[in-house]
Amino acid sequence: MMKLLRIVILSLIIFGLVVSIAYATHHTPEERGKALFNDAKFADGSKACNECHKDGKGLEKAADKKEFNIMGKTQKSLEEAVNFCIVNANKGKAVDANSDQMKDVVAYIKSLKGKAAEAPPVKKKKPIEGC
Ligand code: HEC
Repeated sequence: MMKLLRIVILSLIIFGLVVSIAYATHHTPEERGKALFNDAKFADGSKACNECHKDGKGLEKAADKKEFNIMGKTQKSLEEAVNFCIVNANKGKAVDANSDQMKDVVAYIKSLKGKAAEAPPVKKKKPIEGC
């Protein structure tokens, strides 16, 4: 009986290790950030960032900006800009600027840098609804 228990516990430990190694090696911050960007439930919201910023279009220069103007409001950092959209566009709750989720989303936005040349320009800008 004890032997069986030991085998079960050992298998669980090995399984846990394999899963965490797989997670650590296959998901970069950009990938995790992209998943959050596409997730309508991110930060308790009801809309995905991707619904307005399709594949990150329009955010290619965001990583280099010091100040953001979104719907006439000034945001002093990329994290503040992300939180502005979370609260006003996604109808979610602001996330801590130092949290892993914010770091991952910021990493994804930074990975978009320079992609503007490949993508065709966006013709019409969608306004934030209900802002
Ligand atoms: C309802 C549409 C909508 C949604 C959803 C939305 N945004 Fe925005 N976002 C806008 C608009 C409109 C602007 C301001 C105009 C612009 O820069 O394109 C903007 C601006 C931004 C900017 C500043 C860009 C710049 O270079 O000045 C960032 C960063 C940003 N959004 C990130 C996000 C993130 C991250 C999410 C998801 C948490 C999100 N947005 C969800 C509409 C939206």
